[in-house]
Amino acid sequence: MDMNIQNEQIVKEQTSKDMATRELLKVAIVGHVDHGKSTFVGRLLHDTDSLPDGKYDGIVAMCEKRGVPFEFAFLMDSFQAERDQGITIDTSQIWFSSKSRDYVIIDAPGHKEFLKNMITGAAQSDAAILMIDAHEGVQEQSRRHGYLLNLLGVDQIAVVVNKMDLVGFSQAKFDQIESEYRQYLGSIGVEATQFIPISAREGDNVVVLSNNMPWYNGPSVTQTLDSFAKQSAAIDLPLRLPVQDVYKFDERRIIAGNIISGQLRIGDRLSFSPSGKTAIVKNIEKWPIAYAEKEKQNIVIGAGQSVGITLSEQIFVERGDVISHVSDNVKGFETGELIEPHLGKTFTAKLFWLGENPFKIGKSYKMKLGTTEIMVRVKCINHILDAENLSQAQGDQLLRNQLGEVVLTTRENIALDDYRYFNKSGRFVLLEDFDIAGGGVISLETYENERAKLFAKSSNITRVDHAVSLAERENSNGHKGGVLWMTGLSGSGKSSLAISLERKLFRQGMQVYVLDGDNLRHGLNGNLDFSDIDRKENIRRASEVAALMARAGFIVIVSLISPFVKDRKQASIVQGEGFYEIYINADLVTCETRDVKGLYAKARNGEIKDFTGISSPYEAPEKADLTIDTYALSVEQGAQKLMQFAVAKFHMAYEQDYSI
Ligand code: ADX
Repeated sequence: MDMNIQNEQIVKEQTSKDMATRELLKVAIVGHVDHGKSTFVGRLLHDTDSLPDGKYDGIVAMCEKRGVPFEFAFLMDSFQAERDQGITIDTSQIWFSSKSRDYVIIDAPGHKEFLKNMITGAAQSDAAILMIDAHEGVQEQSRRHGYLLNLLGVDQIAVVVNKMDLVGFSQAKFDQIESEYRQYLGSIGVEATQFIPISAREGDNVVVLSNNMPWYNGPSVTQTLDSFAKQSAAIDLPLRLPVQDVYKFDERRIIAGNIISGQLRIGDRLSFSPSGKTAIVKNIEKWPIAYAEKEKQNIVIGAGQSVGITLSEQIFVERGDVISHVSDNVKGFETGELIEPHLGKTFTAKLFWLGENPFKIGKSYKMKLGTTEIMVRVKCINHILDAENLSQAQGDQLLRNQLGEVVLTTRENIALDDYRYFNKSGRFVLLEDFDIAGGGVISLETYENERAKLFAKSSNITRVDHAVSLAERENSNGHKGGVLWMTGLSGSGKSSLAISLERKLFRQGMQVYVLDGDNLRHGLNGNLDFSDIDRKENIRRASEVAALMARAGFIVIVSLISPFVKDRKQASIVQGEGFYEIYINADLVTCETRDVKGLYAKARNGEIKDFTGISSPYEAPEKADLTIDTYALSVEQGAQKLMQFAVAKFHMAYEQDYSI
């Protein structure tokens, strides 16, 4: 039997009780049918007087007629039957009321639907009830259900240990289940608020406290639920306004969007993420209705409303930016940390996959997050959960209807909110070929916020003067520091020449070090690929490191393909004086024939994308400081030429045999 029900009559009754004045708490119920879920819900509806008139008597009479003992589960069966006949609407929701408020129980009839609803945001609960069978104790099944709690992201949890009558209301049995299960929940980061021993069939501790378990001093299930708080409404959360569009009217630039949480008024200082810019709300414009001028000053626009604002300063704002308040200006939500979105490129997500094709490590998808659309790459899959039977596995892909904890990365920093706090802005969808292929929630638990680091650069930074000057270092070394920047195709001989030159200079007592592209990509640049934008960053980092080392007095030999004129120009600016561009020249045919690493062959086969010379361009220097034609020279000959060049440039008065 499945509890996927909603009784229309109950809903009507609830509506007539003037629900507007009563608080509604959404409670997810998790547990196996055999553990007595239906009996429990039937009992709960009965004991809280939430059943439609005549329902209970009808079932009792039916049982008598058929000569079978009454069971609360029959109530659920009858709802189920109504649903099957199309009498009731299937929303998997069951309503009941305690003395103090109304509840809706969100059931997990099939885990698949439940998980999908939860992840896509269709079902959001304030609290959860998890059911364990006292007779069976903690089993694999209960552990899997615990994982559902982890996914729910709720921290108000009642663990109900049912069928206590079958274990003679034994305290020892209950204590053992409680300690074992608490430990398990702890291991997955979930803390239960209350463990309650009950008998749903007999009614012990469901609504009324039981005399059969005098050793239990805690609250009943409904008392526990009554003690739970409603999760923050969107209006109480920090402001989030994703920019939908920027319109230009006469002189005004109106920033429009829908407020998804928090509120906003004229004069507020706003922060724009991920740019980090700030500005003050100058005016709230006609959006979507006109406000009278004098009305405006007092207007507070809140979650759920569309708004158009103008700013006191002209800053560049675009669709996808997320507007929040500025954290130093707002006291409040917890430590104020959540006032502005987290900034980062990597996050963990719980993802429900619906796509036809498997979701795979290394693949990229378009992510829609608020009004942002950005490509994300799948970095890893921490684990896979089968949504049908909740079994967990390891693997490198998610199939349709599987759920996984995955790590996604973006190129640029983006504004991120953790779904545990931000019900709406913490959710995203992934698209494949323009179709929604998955839905997920963002978890930022272990990630450091980049905001502080990013915006530190613009303020409060002063250089510290070294106590040892560059001139002193140069004197001590007997030569100048500087950068020999080698550029050329893969296989042109850069690394061989660099290593040979390093050896020669070192033997002359020079401070010298090679920064080689392949080596840097193992560490400092390990997170970069070979797209144009990542190559640019590769070169930026290498040039900064080279410049630092040159300032420390080193001769730095940089060996990078560095295929773009613009990026090399930038590197020369970073270093300034003492930068020499060296073209290690071999034509593509020569390089491809050498193919030392076998990469050209792979690139030709399509196994490597963006390969320089094959599927990504190489812009040769127009006027290099030195060119070494490696198709004509041996490594030794080339290295000697380089050595002469280095000696001349770094003013080393050696007349030596450079062949060592
Ligand atoms: S650069 O483009 O940023 O200058 P870099 O010098 O760091 O490149 O790295 C080039 C090295 O990475 C090559 O020598 C080769 O061994 C390896 N490599 C792997 N994939 C590619 C690719 N798609 N294009 C060029 N080099 C690649």
